Amino acid sequence: MPETPAITETSVAGAVDAALTAIAAATDSAELKVVRARHTGENSALAGFNAAIKSLPGTEKAAAGKLVGAARGRLTQAIAARDAELVEAEESARLAAESVDVTALASRQAAGARHPLSLLMEQIGDIFTGMGWEVAEGPELENEWFNFDSMNFDEDHPARAMQDTFFVDPVESHLVLRTHTSPVQTRSMLDRTPPIYVVAPGKTFRTDELDATHTPVFHQVEGLAVDKGLTMANLRGTLEHFARLVFGEEAKIRLRPNYFPFTEPSAEMDVWQPHAKGGARWVEWGGCGMINPNVLRASGIDPEEYQGFAFGMGIERTLQFRHDLNDMRDMVEGDVRFSQQFGMVV
Ligand code: DAH
Repeated sequence: MPETPAITETSVAGAVDAALTAIAAATDSAELKVVRARHTGENSALAGFNAAIKSLPGTEKAAAGKLVGAARGRLTQAIAARDAELVEAEESARLAAESVDVTALASRQAAGARHPLSLLMEQIGDIFTGMGWEVAEGPELENEWFNFDSMNFDEDHPARAMQDTFFVDPVESHLVLRTHTSPVQTRSMLDRTPPIYVVAPGKTFRTDELDATHTPVFHQVEGLAVDKGLTMANLRGTLEHFARLVFGEEAKIRLRPNYFPFTEPSAEMDVWQPHAKGGARWVEWGGCGMINPNVLRASGIDPEEYQGFAFGMGIERTLQFRHDLNDMRDMVEGDVRFSQQFGMVV
C-alpha cells in the first residue's frame, strides 16, 4: 500500500476529485465497477485514510473521521448516480438494437414457380375428372411385360425395337424405364372391374439426345375407357371435347389410320390450330384406337363382353402447340423465368 498522506481537507479533496473524474469517465457499468474498486476498495486512498485515523491523536480523530466519512458518502452517491445513468443507457441501446419495425416491408424470397408441364398435367386430370374419369398412376421403372408384352408387342416385333428403350441392369431383371404411359392401361384394368374410365399423366423415357424437338425424359397422358358397347364414335367425341378444353373452342380433330400393336383399329390424331404463328395448321397430337382384344385379354377382360378405346399424347408437344414454343430445351432446363412467363408464380 502506498504511504498515506496526512488527512487534510486538501488531501481528501484530492482523492475525491480523482475518483469523481474517473467515475465520470467510465463509459459502461463494467468499467464503473473497476473504478469503484480502485477508488473505494481495499487499496484505495480512501481506505488508507480510514486506516490512518486510528493512529491519530484522540483530539483529531473525530474531525478526520467526519472528513473521510463525508468523502466516502460523496463517492458512493456519485457511483450510484453514474451507475444508474450507464445502466439506463445500456438498456435503451439494447432495446433499440432489438426493436422490430412492424411497419417495414417484409423481405420476400421468391419461392419459384410451378412448371407449366405440371400444371398442364393437372389441368388434363381436371378435365377428365370433370367427366367422371379417374386419374391413375403407374411406376416409372416398369416391368418389360407391362411396358411391351401386355401391350401386345411381339417378342421380336419391330415396334419393340422402334422405341428407344432404356433397359435396366441386369437384363434378367426385365425392368425398363417406361417408354410410354400405356402400361398404366394394363395396371388399371388389373386393379378394377369395368366400366373403367382412367387417365394417367406421367413421366416417360427414351434414349433420345436432348435437342429442340426431343428430350430423353418427357411426359405423356394415357387415356383408357373400357365399357360395354364403346365405339370409335365415343373415342372421337371424347377427344374432340378434350381438344377444345386444351386448345380452345375452335379446335377440331381428325383421325388418320395408323398402326399400334395395342389398338385395332388405330389412328393418328391431328388437332386443328386456327391461330398458329405460321398460319392455321393441323398438327399431329397423339395416337388412339379401339383397344386390341389381346390387350383386354392380358388384363383378364373378356373382349366379347367389353370394348374399349385408348389414346396417348405427349405433354411437351401439347404445351408446345398451345403456346407456339419452338425449343423443347426451354421446358427442361429449369430456368424459373420460363415458368414465370406462364404467370405461375407460387
Ligand atoms: N403409346 C403410344 C406412344 O407412346 C401412344 C399411344 C398411341 C397410346 C395409341 C395409346 C394409343 O393409348 O391408343 O407412342
